[in-house]
Amino acid sequence: MTRTPSTGSASALPYHVPVMADEVVRWMADCPDGPLVDGTLGGGGHTAALAAATPADRPLVGVDQDGAALREARARLADAGELPQRLKLLQGSFADLRALLDAAGVPTEHGVAGILLDLGVSSHQLDAAERGFGLKHSDAPLDMRMDRDSQRPTAADLLDTWSEDELAQVLREFGEVQGARGVARALKRARAEGRLSTTGDLARVVESVQKPRRMRPGLHPATTVFQALRIAVNDELTALDRALSEAPELLCEGGRLVVLSYHSLEDRRVKQAFREGERGPERPGHLPPPSEWTQRWRVLTSKPISASDEEIRVNPRARSARLRVAERAPLVARRRP
Ligand SMILES: C[S@@+](CC[C@H](N)C(=O)[O-])C[C@H]1O[C@@H](n2cnc3c(N)ncnc32)[C@H](O)[C@@H]1O
Repeated sequence: MTRTPSTGSASALPYHVPVMADEVVRWMADCPDGPLVDGTLGGGGHTAALAAATPADRPLVGVDQDGAALREARARLADAGELPQRLKLLQGSFADLRALLDAAGVPTEHGVAGILLDLGVSSHQLDAAERGFGLKHSDAPLDMRMDRDSQRPTAADLLDTWSEDELAQVLREFGEVQGARGVARALKRARAEGRLSTTGDLARVVESVQKPRRMRPGLHPATTVFQALRIAVNDELTALDRALSEAPELLCEGGRLVVLSYHSLEDRRVKQAFREGERGPERPGHLPPPSEWTQRWRVLTSKPISASDEEIRVNPRARSARLRVAERAPLVARRRP
Protein backbone atom coordinates (compact mmCIF):
# COMPACT_ATOMS: atom_id res chain seq x y z
CA MET A 1 0.00 0.00 0.00
CA THR A 2 1.35 3.42 -0.97
CA ARG A 3 1.36 6.11 1.71
CA THR A 4 0.78 9.66 0.64
CA PRO A 5 3.15 12.27 2.00
CA SER A 6 0.15 14.63 2.01
CA THR A 7 -0.98 15.97 5.34
CA GLY A 8 -4.53 16.28 3.97
CA SER A 9 -4.65 19.59 5.72
CA ALA A 10 -7.79 20.14 7.75
CA SER A 11 -10.38 22.24 5.98
CA ALA A 12 -11.64 25.54 7.33
CA LEU A 13 -14.96 23.66 7.53
CA PRO A 14 -14.96 21.63 10.74
CA TYR A 15 -18.31 19.99 9.79
CA HIS A 16 -16.32 17.14 8.24
CA VAL A 17 -12.57 17.15 7.70
CA PRO A 18 -12.01 16.04 4.09
CA VAL A 19 -9.78 12.97 3.90
CA MET A 20 -6.60 13.08 1.80
CA ALA A 21 -7.72 16.43 0.38
CA ASP A 22 -4.35 17.33 -1.14
CA GLU A 23 -4.09 13.94 -2.80
CA VAL A 24 -7.66 14.10 -4.16
CA VAL A 25 -7.07 17.58 -5.56
CA ARG A 26 -3.82 16.47 -7.17
CA TRP A 27 -5.59 13.68 -9.10
CA MET A 28 -8.68 15.69 -9.97
CA ALA A 29 -6.99 18.95 -10.95
CA ASP A 30 -4.98 17.01 -13.52
CA CYS A 31 -8.12 15.85 -15.36
CA PRO A 32 -8.78 16.99 -18.96
CA ASP A 33 -10.98 20.07 -19.55
CA GLY A 34 -14.65 19.74 -18.63
CA PRO A 35 -16.89 19.55 -15.58
CA LEU A 36 -15.62 18.03 -12.32
CA VAL A 37 -18.23 16.22 -10.23
CA ASP A 38 -18.03 15.65 -6.48
CA GLY A 39 -20.57 12.81 -6.16
CA THR A 40 -20.47 12.90 -2.34
CA LEU A 41 -20.53 16.58 -1.41
CA GLY A 42 -21.01 16.08 2.37
CA GLY A 43 -19.69 19.18 4.09
CA GLY A 44 -18.19 20.45 0.83
CA GLY A 45 -14.58 20.13 2.00
CA HIS A 46 -13.27 18.41 -1.14
CA THR A 47 -15.38 20.66 -3.38
CA ALA A 48 -14.01 23.78 -1.70
CA ALA A 49 -10.47 22.47 -2.18
CA LEU A 50 -11.20 21.73 -5.85
CA ALA A 51 -12.71 25.18 -6.35
CA ALA A 52 -9.56 26.75 -4.94
CA ALA A 53 -7.23 24.63 -7.06
CA THR A 54 -8.90 24.85 -10.49
CA PRO A 55 -9.40 27.73 -12.97
CA ALA A 56 -12.46 29.91 -12.40
CA ASP A 57 -14.10 28.79 -15.67
CA ARG A 58 -14.00 25.08 -14.83
CA PRO A 59 -17.59 23.91 -14.07
CA LEU A 60 -18.00 22.11 -10.74
CA VAL A 61 -20.94 19.98 -9.60
CA GLY A 62 -21.61 18.78 -6.05
CA VAL A 63 -24.08 15.93 -5.49
CA ASP A 64 -25.43 14.47 -2.25
CA GLN A 65 -28.50 12.39 -1.55
CA ASP A 66 -28.85 13.95 1.88
CA GLY A 67 -30.93 17.11 1.43
CA ALA A 68 -29.89 18.43 4.85
CA ALA A 69 -26.18 17.99 4.01
CA LEU A 70 -26.70 19.78 0.73
CA ARG A 71 -28.44 22.76 2.37
CA GLU A 72 -25.75 23.03 5.02
CA ALA A 73 -22.93 22.69 2.49
CA ARG A 74 -24.48 25.43 0.38
CA ALA A 75 -24.65 27.78 3.37
CA ARG A 76 -21.17 26.88 4.60
CA LEU A 77 -19.56 27.29 1.18
CA ALA A 78 -21.35 30.63 0.72
CA ASP A 79 -20.22 31.82 4.18
CA ALA A 80 -16.67 30.83 3.39
CA GLY A 81 -16.92 32.76 0.09
CA GLU A 82 -16.39 29.47 -1.77
CA LEU A 83 -19.68 29.23 -3.66
CA PRO A 84 -18.60 30.26 -7.13
CA GLN A 85 -21.09 30.78 -9.97
CA ARG A 86 -19.59 27.78 -11.69
CA LEU A 87 -20.69 25.41 -8.87
CA LYS A 88 -24.03 23.57 -9.18
CA LEU A 89 -25.32 21.63 -6.17
CA LEU A 90 -27.71 18.75 -6.88
CA GLN A 91 -29.65 16.40 -4.63
CA GLY A 92 -29.69 12.76 -5.64
CA SER A 93 -27.70 9.56 -5.67
CA PHE A 94 -24.41 9.20 -7.51
CA ALA A 95 -25.95 5.98 -8.82
CA ASP A 96 -28.10 8.20 -11.07
CA LEU A 97 -25.39 10.65 -12.05
CA ARG A 98 -26.15 10.93 -15.76
CA ALA A 99 -29.86 11.54 -15.15
CA LEU A 100 -29.06 14.14 -12.47
CA LEU A 101 -26.58 16.00 -14.66
CA ASP A 102 -28.94 15.91 -17.68
CA ALA A 103 -31.87 17.20 -15.60
CA ALA A 104 -29.70 20.05 -14.27
CA GLY A 105 -28.53 21.00 -17.77
CA VAL A 106 -24.86 20.20 -17.09
CA PRO A 107 -23.29 19.72 -20.54
CA THR A 108 -22.11 16.11 -20.77
CA GLU A 109 -21.97 15.61 -24.56
CA HIS A 110 -18.16 15.78 -24.49
CA GLY A 111 -18.01 13.80 -21.25
CA VAL A 112 -17.31 14.73 -17.67
CA ALA A 113 -13.63 15.30 -16.81
CA GLY A 114 -13.54 13.88 -13.28
CA ILE A 115 -15.76 12.22 -10.70
CA LEU A 116 -14.96 11.98 -6.99
CA LEU A 117 -16.68 9.45 -4.70
CA ASP A 118 -15.80 9.79 -1.00
CA LEU A 119 -17.95 6.93 0.23
CA GLY A 120 -19.99 6.36 3.36
CA VAL A 121 -21.31 8.88 5.87
CA SER A 122 -19.82 12.18 6.99
CA SER A 123 -18.67 12.89 10.53
CA HIS A 124 -21.60 15.29 10.79
CA GLN A 125 -24.12 12.60 9.90
CA LEU A 126 -22.50 10.26 12.43
CA ASP A 127 -22.63 12.97 15.08
CA ALA A 128 -26.18 14.21 14.39
CA ALA A 129 -28.30 12.92 17.25
CA GLU A 130 -31.50 12.36 15.28
CA ARG A 131 -29.99 10.36 12.40
CA GLY A 132 -29.31 7.12 14.30
CA PHE A 133 -26.06 6.31 12.43
CA GLY A 134 -23.86 5.60 15.42
CA LEU A 135 -23.27 4.99 19.07
CA LYS A 136 -22.60 8.56 20.03
CA HIS A 137 -26.20 9.32 21.02
CA SER A 138 -27.96 6.55 22.90
CA ASP A 139 -31.51 7.83 22.45
CA ALA A 140 -31.53 8.34 18.67
CA PRO A 141 -34.27 6.60 16.67
CA LEU A 142 -33.18 3.72 14.42
CA ASP A 143 -33.43 5.67 11.18
CA MET A 144 -30.05 5.55 9.34
CA ARG A 145 -31.37 6.88 6.01
CA MET A 146 -29.00 9.30 4.30
CA ASP A 147 -31.90 10.66 2.24
CA ARG A 148 -34.62 11.37 4.76
CA ASP A 149 -36.82 12.93 2.07
CA SER A 150 -37.16 9.49 0.49
CA GLN A 151 -39.76 6.82 1.23
CA ARG A 152 -36.94 4.33 1.82
CA PRO A 153 -37.53 2.08 4.88
CA THR A 154 -35.63 2.99 8.05
CA ALA A 155 -33.43 0.58 10.01
CA ALA A 156 -36.37 0.04 12.41
CA ASP A 157 -38.65 -0.86 9.46
CA LEU A 158 -36.12 -3.36 8.16
CA LEU A 159 -35.62 -4.93 11.59
CA ASP A 160 -39.39 -5.54 11.59
CA THR A 161 -39.71 -6.89 8.08
CA TRP A 162 -36.60 -9.06 7.71
CA SER A 163 -36.72 -12.63 8.99
CA GLU A 164 -34.03 -13.74 11.42
CA ASP A 165 -32.28 -15.48 8.51
CA GLU A 166 -32.30 -12.35 6.37
CA LEU A 167 -31.05 -10.19 9.22
CA ALA A 168 -28.24 -12.65 9.98
CA GLN A 169 -27.21 -12.59 6.32
CA VAL A 170 -27.14 -8.79 6.25
CA LEU A 171 -25.02 -8.70 9.41
CA ARG A 172 -22.62 -11.29 7.98
CA GLU A 173 -22.32 -9.77 4.50
CA PHE A 174 -22.28 -6.07 5.25
CA GLY A 175 -20.68 -6.04 8.71
CA GLU A 176 -18.74 -9.30 8.82
CA VAL A 177 -20.37 -9.55 12.27
CA GLN A 178 -19.05 -12.45 14.34
CA GLY A 179 -21.88 -14.65 15.65
CA ALA A 180 -24.33 -12.99 13.26
CA ARG A 181 -27.03 -15.60 13.84
CA GLY A 182 -27.11 -15.03 17.63
CA VAL A 183 -27.10 -11.25 17.21
CA ALA A 184 -29.94 -11.45 14.68
CA ARG A 185 -32.01 -13.64 17.02
CA ALA A 186 -31.46 -11.28 19.96
CA LEU A 187 -32.35 -8.22 17.86
CA LYS A 188 -35.55 -9.78 16.52
CA ARG A 189 -36.60 -10.85 20.02
CA ALA A 190 -35.86 -7.45 21.54
CA ARG A 191 -37.78 -5.73 18.76
CA ALA A 192 -40.79 -8.03 19.23
CA GLU A 193 -40.72 -7.36 23.00
CA GLY A 194 -40.57 -3.58 22.53
CA ARG A 195 -37.03 -3.30 23.93
CA LEU A 196 -35.37 -2.06 20.72
CA SER A 197 -36.23 1.39 19.44
CA THR A 198 -33.09 3.51 19.93
CA THR A 199 -29.39 3.35 19.11
CA GLY A 200 -28.66 2.79 22.82
CA ASP A 201 -31.06 -0.20 22.86
CA LEU A 202 -29.27 -1.62 19.81
CA ALA A 203 -25.88 -1.29 21.50
CA ARG A 204 -27.17 -2.95 24.68
CA VAL A 205 -28.76 -5.90 22.89
CA VAL A 206 -25.58 -6.55 20.89
CA GLU A 207 -23.41 -6.25 24.02
CA SER A 208 -25.63 -8.77 25.80
CA VAL A 209 -24.99 -11.50 23.22
CA GLN A 210 -21.46 -10.82 21.93
CA LYS A 211 -18.86 -12.98 23.61
CA PRO A 212 -15.92 -10.90 24.88
CA ARG A 213 -13.44 -12.98 22.85
CA ARG A 214 -15.29 -11.93 19.70
CA MET A 215 -14.82 -8.26 20.41
CA ARG A 216 -11.97 -6.43 18.75
CA PRO A 217 -10.11 -4.33 21.33
CA GLY A 218 -11.10 -0.68 21.12
CA LEU A 219 -14.11 -1.45 18.90
CA HIS A 220 -17.60 -1.52 20.40
CA PRO A 221 -19.24 -4.82 19.45
CA ALA A 222 -22.19 -2.95 17.92
CA THR A 223 -20.02 -0.92 15.52
CA THR A 224 -20.11 -3.53 12.76
CA VAL A 225 -23.85 -4.07 13.35
CA PHE A 226 -24.46 -0.33 12.80
CA GLN A 227 -22.32 -0.50 9.65
CA ALA A 228 -24.25 -3.48 8.27
CA LEU A 229 -27.65 -1.90 8.91
CA ARG A 230 -26.58 1.45 7.46
CA ILE A 231 -25.25 -0.18 4.27
CA ALA A 232 -28.49 -2.13 3.86
CA VAL A 233 -30.80 0.82 4.62
CA ASN A 234 -29.07 2.97 2.01
CA ASP A 235 -28.38 0.16 -0.45
CA GLU A 236 -24.84 1.51 -0.55
CA LEU A 237 -23.14 -1.31 -2.43
CA THR A 238 -25.73 -1.32 -5.22
CA ALA A 239 -25.25 2.44 -5.63
CA LEU A 240 -21.48 1.96 -5.79
CA ASP A 241 -21.78 -0.85 -8.37
CA ARG A 242 -24.03 1.31 -10.54
CA ALA A 243 -21.70 4.28 -10.33
CA LEU A 244 -18.68 2.11 -11.18
CA SER A 245 -20.39 0.70 -14.23
CA GLU A 246 -21.82 4.04 -15.42
CA ALA A 247 -18.71 6.17 -14.87
CA PRO A 248 -16.77 5.06 -17.97
CA GLU A 249 -19.73 6.05 -20.18
CA LEU A 250 -19.93 9.44 -18.50
CA LEU A 251 -16.26 10.37 -18.49
CA CYS A 252 -14.40 11.81 -21.46
CA GLU A 253 -11.29 10.06 -22.72
CA GLY A 254 -8.63 10.57 -20.04
CA GLY A 255 -11.31 11.60 -17.50
CA ARG A 256 -10.75 10.26 -14.00
CA LEU A 257 -12.71 8.45 -11.35
CA VAL A 258 -11.26 9.01 -7.86
CA VAL A 259 -12.71 6.80 -5.11
CA LEU A 260 -12.09 6.96 -1.36
CA SER A 261 -13.45 3.88 0.40
CA TYR A 262 -13.49 3.07 4.09
CA HIS A 263 -14.00 -0.69 4.35
CA SER A 264 -13.03 -3.75 2.41
CA LEU A 265 -16.52 -4.36 0.95
CA GLU A 266 -16.24 -1.06 -0.91
CA ASP A 267 -12.55 -1.19 -1.75
CA ARG A 268 -12.82 -4.73 -3.14
CA ARG A 269 -15.56 -3.62 -5.55
CA VAL A 270 -13.58 -0.63 -6.74
CA LYS A 271 -10.44 -2.70 -7.23
CA GLN A 272 -12.37 -5.40 -9.11
CA ALA A 273 -14.23 -2.94 -11.38
CA PHE A 274 -11.01 -1.12 -12.25
CA ARG A 275 -9.13 -4.37 -12.89
CA GLU A 276 -11.87 -5.80 -15.11
CA GLY A 277 -12.19 -2.51 -16.97
CA GLU A 278 -8.48 -2.56 -17.66
CA ARG A 279 -7.85 -6.26 -18.38
CA GLY A 280 -11.26 -7.76 -19.18
CA PRO A 281 -13.29 -10.27 -17.19
CA GLU A 282 -11.47 -12.90 -15.14
CA ARG A 283 -10.72 -15.92 -17.28
CA PRO A 284 -8.62 -19.04 -16.95
CA GLY A 285 -5.06 -19.27 -18.21
CA HIS A 286 -3.91 -16.91 -20.94
CA LEU A 287 -7.18 -16.77 -22.81
CA PRO A 288 -7.71 -13.42 -24.56
CA PRO A 289 -10.65 -11.26 -23.47
CA PRO A 290 -13.97 -11.91 -25.25
CA SER A 291 -14.17 -10.30 -28.71
CA GLU A 292 -16.91 -7.85 -27.69
CA TRP A 293 -14.88 -6.58 -24.73
CA THR A 294 -13.34 -3.09 -24.91
CA GLN A 295 -10.95 -1.59 -22.42
CA ARG A 296 -12.70 1.01 -20.27
CA TRP A 297 -10.15 1.88 -17.58
CA ARG A 298 -6.47 2.58 -17.25
CA VAL A 299 -5.67 2.15 -13.57
CA LEU A 300 -3.45 4.93 -12.20
CA THR A 301 -2.96 3.59 -8.67
CA SER A 302 -1.44 0.12 -8.81
CA LYS A 303 -1.96 -0.08 -5.03
CA PRO A 304 -4.44 1.86 -2.94
CA ILE A 305 -3.09 5.05 -1.41
CA SER A 306 -3.64 5.58 2.30
CA ALA A 307 -3.34 8.65 4.49
CA SER A 308 -0.08 9.71 6.06
CA ASP A 309 0.53 8.99 9.75
CA GLU A 310 0.37 12.71 10.35
CA GLU A 311 -3.08 13.03 8.78
CA ILE A 312 -4.33 10.00 10.74
CA ARG A 313 -3.10 11.60 13.96
CA VAL A 314 -5.09 14.77 13.24
CA ASN A 315 -8.10 13.00 11.70
CA PRO A 316 -8.50 9.38 12.92
CA ARG A 317 -11.28 8.83 10.34
CA ALA A 318 -8.55 8.84 7.67
CA ARG A 319 -7.07 5.62 9.12
CA SER A 320 -9.26 3.25 7.11
CA ALA A 321 -9.38 5.35 3.92
CA ARG A 322 -8.15 3.79 0.66
CA LEU A 323 -7.82 5.93 -2.44
CA ARG A 324 -7.94 4.45 -5.94
CA VAL A 325 -7.90 6.29 -9.26
CA ALA A 326 -8.58 5.14 -12.82
CA GLU A 327 -8.64 7.03 -16.08
CA ARG A 328 -11.11 6.50 -18.94
CA ALA A 329 -9.20 4.50 -21.57
CA PRO A 330 -9.12 5.71 -25.20
CA LEU A 331 -12.23 4.63 -27.05
CA VAL A 332 -10.57 2.11 -29.36
CA ALA A 333 -12.40 -1.11 -30.12
CA ARG A 334 -10.34 -4.19 -29.28
CA ARG A 335 -10.05 -6.90 -31.86
CA ARG A 336 -9.33 -10.54 -31.41
CA PRO A 337 -5.68 -11.21 -32.27
C1 LIG B 1 -17.72 10.85 3.56
S1 LIG B 1 -18.98 12.00 3.27
C2 LIG B 1 -18.26 13.09 2.10
C3 LIG B 1 -17.52 14.22 2.74
C4 LIG B 1 -17.03 15.24 1.75
N1 LIG B 1 -16.07 14.68 0.83
C5 LIG B 1 -16.43 16.44 2.45
O1 LIG B 1 -15.29 16.80 2.15
O2 LIG B 1 -17.09 17.03 3.30
C6 LIG B 1 -20.07 11.10 2.26
C7 LIG B 1 -21.28 11.89 1.78
O3 LIG B 1 -21.78 11.19 0.67
C8 LIG B 1 -23.18 11.12 0.73
N2 LIG B 1 -23.55 9.91 0.01
C9 LIG B 1 -23.35 8.63 0.36
N3 LIG B 1 -23.83 7.82 -0.58
C10 LIG B 1 -24.33 8.60 -1.56
C11 LIG B 1 -24.95 8.34 -2.83
N4 LIG B 1 -25.20 7.09 -3.27
N5 LIG B 1 -25.28 9.39 -3.60
C12 LIG B 1 -25.06 10.67 -3.18
N6 LIG B 1 -24.51 10.97 -1.99
C13 LIG B 1 -24.13 9.95 -1.19
C14 LIG B 1 -23.51 11.11 2.19
O4 LIG B 1 -24.82 11.62 2.40
C15 LIG B 1 -22.41 12.00 2.78
O5 LIG B 1 -22.85 13.32 2.88
